[in-house]
Amino acid sequence: MANFFASKTFTTLSDLHPNMANLKIIGIVIGKTDVKGFPDRKNIGSERYTFSFTIRDSPTHFVNATSWGNEVYIRSLSNSFKVGMCVIIENPLIQRKELEREEKFSPATPSACKLLLSENHSTVKVCSSCEVDTKLLSLIHLPVKESCDYYSLGDIVANGHSLNGRIINVLAAVRSVGEPKYFTTSDRRNGQRCEVKLFDEMESSFVMICWDNESILLAQSWMPRETVIFASDVRISFDKFRNCMTATVISKTIITTNPDTPEANILLNFIRENKETNLVDDEIDSYLKESINLNTIVDVYTVEQLKIKALKNEGKADPFYGILYAYISTLNIDDETIKVVRNRCSGCGYIINEASSTCTTCNKDSSGFKSVFLSFDMLIDLTDHTGTLHSCSLTGSVAEETLGCTFFLSHRARGGLRISVLSCKLADPVEASRNLSGQGSI
Ligand SMILES: *[C@@H]1O[C@H](CO)[C@@H](O)[C@H](O)[C@H]1NC(C)=O
Ligand SMILES: *[C@@H]1O[C@H](CO)[C@@H](O)[C@H](O)[C@H]1NC(C)=O
Ligand SMILES: *[C@@H]1O[C@H](CO)[C@@H](O)[C@H](O)[C@H]1NC(C)=O
Ligand SMILES: *[C@@H]1O[C@H](CO)[C@@H](O)[C@H](O)[C@H]1NC(C)=O
Repeated sequence: MANFFASKTFTTLSDLHPNMANLKIIGIVIGKTDVKGFPDRKNIGSERYTFSFTIRDSPTHFVNATSWGNEVYIRSLSNSFKVGMCVIIENPLIQRKELEREEKFSPATPSACKLLLSENHSTVKVCSSCEVDTKLLSLIHLPVKESCDYYSLGDIVANGHSLNGRIINVLAAVRSVGEPKYFTTSDRRNGQRCEVKLFDEMESSFVMICWDNESILLAQSWMPRETVIFASDVRISFDKFRNCMTATVISKTIITTNPDTPEANILLNFIRENKETNLVDDEIDSYLKESINLNTIVDVYTVEQLKIKALKNEGKADPFYGILYAYISTLNIDDETIKVVRNRCSGCGYIINEASSTCTTCNKDSSGFKSVFLSFDMLIDLTDHTGTLHSCSLTGSVAEETLGCTFFLSHRARGGLRISVLSCKLADPVEASRNLSGQGSI
């Protein structure tokens, strides 16, 4: 048994039995939920608070612990540690797990027990990483599932709709981590959302959504194009709006950052080797490929406001969205020195190098050459009463559609700021003037 942390003082998780008393347990926190409040039935008008976490003390043993108490206690306990830290728990109540019911909502744990922590009887102490065995710390890089028990992004896309609603494990690299968005739900609760884009050898962009602060916090520690994750028990769904499969982090999910497994190391080598192909075009195309819910875009900008906002936003990976009432002041398709169409790779959608006729993103040499398709790629200027945005590039299906269109300020333009306008329609003059009144020129 892998109880290498056994000492006289700590009980290993493998030795836990229901109703054992006066225990002291040490473990590394591998998962954690947000704090939630519930009306207290015994004490009408007041609320009880709870959060759960999962600790591990060996490759094969981890348990789920739930803490209950008043708001102040639960919030301060929850704030005192995060995933990756080690904790010592004294006097937990050991209960037998109600298998089926619990594992629907909580990480599937191998132990037959769960821990219940109460404010009055139990204590949780955070230990600094120098106090604990490095073997305990290294458990954070071990997935909670078999290292080969996962779907690649390519597998998920290939399986398509048949995986809709399924809960599976995913191994992938982090492509980008969006900024968390905070909002209030219709029943006036606070909500949050963060979109992480994943990639691997087969798929260049795959969305995973986090809806809870704990997973958003974890995601903020990931390095784009450097971090690999093993996400156990994420839900796969078909996103009708984007017309693609997506993953969602749920309360069962445990995400292992930089897993130490042979499969993860292969993926890590792949992302390191392909780092150089991380062209500006690559990022532009990633925006091109995603569709955004237009209904969520309500902020109206003038050209001038947009430039100011872009300056403030400089250095941030995330784009921002808004509505611009403007006219196309330059649409030059007659100049023969300017390319209006370019070849894109049908494998990944990236622009093909004209000279070598190969896609540097998915083929190292011409032997694996995939077919190409023609795509519009032109530069336009947009003007309103406050100024002009030069060299916005109007590309792809965008240019083909009259109503839905996407374009970008070219990376060739000074400042490198990119703007994505997601729909281009004739503006109703009355609406435009109403929206712009009070905005005026600055
Ligand atoms: C632990 O179990 C409880 C139910 O007993 C559940 O609400 C919680 O989400 C679980 N999760 C974690 C991470 O501990
Ligand atoms: C915890 O202790 C406090 C004060 O000692 C007491 O008022 C409270 O009822 C106890 N709570 C529980 C759940 O036992
Ligand atoms: C998540 O964090 C935000 C910002 O700190 C906060 O307003 C919100 O209440 C938190 N939500 C939960 C469920 O803890
Ligand atoms: C601003 O424009 C939106 C649509 O883009 C419209 O729904 C809204 O009514 C306009 N606001 C005003 C004050 O006219």
